[in-house]
Amino acid sequence: MTEAIAYERVGDIAVLKAQNPPVNALGVDVRRGLQAGIERAESEGAKAVLIYGDGRTYFAGADIREFGKAPLDPFLPDLCSRIEASPLLVVSSLHGTALGGGLEVALSCHYRIAVPTAKVGLPEVHLGILPGAGGTQRLPRVTGVEAALDLITSGRHVGAAEALKLGILDKVEDGDPREIGLAYTKSLLDSGAERRAVGEMPAPTPVDFDAVYDAVLKKGRGQQSPATAVRSIQAGCEAESFEAGLKRERELFMELMNSDQRLGLIHAFFSERAVSKLPELKGVAPRALDTVGVIGGGTMGAGIATAALLAGIRVTLLEMNQDAADAAKGRIQGNLQGALKRGKISQEKFDALTNDALTMAIDYDALAQVDLVIEAVFEDMDVKKQVFTKLDAVCKPGAILASNTSYLDVNEIAACTSRPQDVIGLHFFSPAHVMKLLEVVVADETALDVVATGFELGKKLNKISVRAGVCDGFIGNRILATYRTAADHMVLDGASPFQIDKALTDFGFAMGPFAVSDLAGLDIGWAVRKRKRAEGMDPRARDSSYADKLCEGGNFGQKTGKGYYVYEAGKRGGTPNPEVMELIEAERAEKGITPRAFTDEEIVRKYMAAMVNEAAKVVGEGIARRPLDVDMTLLFGYGFPRYRGGPLKWADIVGLPELLADIKRYAEADDYFWQPAPLLEQLVAERRSFDDLNKEAS
Ligand code: 3HC
Ligand code: NAI
Repeated sequence: MTEAIAYERVGDIAVLKAQNPPVNALGVDVRRGLQAGIERAESEGAKAVLIYGDGRTYFAGADIREFGKAPLDPFLPDLCSRIEASPLLVVSSLHGTALGGGLEVALSCHYRIAVPTAKVGLPEVHLGILPGAGGTQRLPRVTGVEAALDLITSGRHVGAAEALKLGILDKVEDGDPREIGLAYTKSLLDSGAERRAVGEMPAPTPVDFDAVYDAVLKKGRGQQSPATAVRSIQAGCEAESFEAGLKRERELFMELMNSDQRLGLIHAFFSERAVSKLPELKGVAPRALDTVGVIGGGTMGAGIATAALLAGIRVTLLEMNQDAADAAKGRIQGNLQGALKRGKISQEKFDALTNDALTMAIDYDALAQVDLVIEAVFEDMDVKKQVFTKLDAVCKPGAILASNTSYLDVNEIAACTSRPQDVIGLHFFSPAHVMKLLEVVVADETALDVVATGFELGKKLNKISVRAGVCDGFIGNRILATYRTAADHMVLDGASPFQIDKALTDFGFAMGPFAVSDLAGLDIGWAVRKRKRAEGMDPRARDSSYADKLCEGGNFGQKTGKGYYVYEAGKRGGTPNPEVMELIEAERAEKGITPRAFTDEEIVRKYMAAMVNEAAKVVGEGIARRPLDVDMTLLFGYGFPRYRGGPLKWADIVGLPELLADIKRYAEADDYFWQPAPLLEQLVAERRSFDDLNKEAS
């Protein structure tokens, strides 16, 4: 036996208890323990085996930390086959989350019971792989192909009641997993129940797998794992034997295991957990967070208030006057109505949130007792300073004063108060009750427990919180400004915005940069450009004016029905606006630029090089602590394809020396824009990667 599996004998039943905290992952010790436990039960004359997990869950899957390392005996698929082949009656009792390899072990047992709160699922596709221990072969035999396709390609978690209906579970019963498992196993023995091996069941009926494959590939925007899983399920229907299906599953599993997408997705899995773990916050208690004030109930303020209300926090929202307050309340109600329609909240909850938990105000005194205030007024330093001066005068001592500014200097905002230690940036993304990212912007004098409270708020609101330092645009918008500029340069040089958008959605982005601008409102970028020009741009910087002309014509994107694209009411997405090309061609002619053709690959390469280079500067300057902080920012706030892990993971995969060489080549034509990041040069010189920096920081 190993310590990871405890063996106990209860009458005729051998009980194997998994004890590998925190989630009973099926690491090598667990696998060895299970195998030894089955063998011992057989050799000692037990009639049945019960498997269950100690602590918070049954096996939550294979041990992801072992991926990419040399596999150690026994392999999980072989272990599953061994369990299934046992002449004893093997039963699993499930609680917590029986996921991936966990569910595969359960499916190789002959009977399954679970507590009502248990969840099961095969989420492997989210890690860039497919269920590789018989899951694509056994699940369809139990549920039929349609349900198995749904579960495996979506990776969704299924509650016990649904799993019972689908035949994944045989019984659901409240109680302790050991006790219900023992009682069930005993009843099976008493009733003379036979071994029931899923692998011995007939192959399921096939469907039109080619059509499913195409649909799944399209839905995944190029993500390979769900589509490959379809082929594996297909093999289960068409192979000449169960074993032949398992063999095919193994081949496809190994193909994915060796893919870049697997690297990207595993990086995302661990990074999204690492991102909010900051050494300096260890043991630092956050301040109270029971009541929140929001100032400004426009797009962002209303979204932030909605998110806070949904998380059970009381909100006082301050607007400029009664009309604006009424409009803001309408926006929040509209957001909550969305949640009501999707069944996320009940009518009763909707009423309680809008009538009791939300208070509208037009007088600062209403904010005197709140624990935290988030300012979301116009993006104008003078207005922000007026607001913070008033907050400083009315808020209770220890209240946290936060700004949702997109670009402005949080140090300057803090300096207009008598309590800069209580001031922080909390940068939400639009729509704030939907988007997962929160940048916690730490100013020079922000106190540690204020930072801890920012992260605590993120946790309560179910956000991915990233620490950012102060600079123009923090992590995300600063990098965005650079790669967006690279796109503008390519447009001037000959690419069309529509080709660029297409190349980048083909790369896996949720939307291309020009479609994103249309969604956010072209007036935002216009204001930034005007501000930058007013501040004085470097004469070497390439500027472009075609987007300004679009705005001057009153075209601000989706909200006006026209921007880079033309939008028709009731239709999703838009069609290219022909006026855009006229404006671009006029500007090229005016600047004497002869347009040249770009390949999609060139577009992606240049766009990504600009993103990586700026990201390396952001890390090098300490604005982001680690490369993974940038990766998570782009993943959760900017539609970067998760299966590529983030821009810096992507850079590691394609090779830093090659990227630096590209940047130097681009610099031959424009050495102002393409200044290599010192950190990138250093890593290349030292033959190190961004991931090495992540590891050093953890
Ligand atoms: N392997 C190794 N470590 C794991 C793990 C796994 N399968 N699952 C979770 N962990 C670790 C986490 O990294 C985290 O570590 P940390 O405390 O050092 O950050 C710790 O366990 C706790 O995890 P969470 O913070 O995520 O805890 P939650 O309670 O929020 O969630 C969970 C628990 C639902 C089990 C979630 O962790 C999860 O979804 N895990 C992944 C499940 C999964 O994908 N399983 C399939 C694995 S692939 C497979 O089985 C291949 C097979 O087909 C051959
Ligand atoms: P908005 O124009 O939709 O809303 C601003 C609101 O603030 C208006 O309702 C206005 O009445 C109110 N307001 C203005 N001055 C006020 C004052 N002195 N007191 C009380 N209320 C006042 O603007 P939006 O888009 O919500 O942006 C707000 C802030 O959030 C800005 O700093 C912006 O940069 C930032 N932000 C915006 C994002 C976006 O995508 N729109 C994303 C992230 C941050």
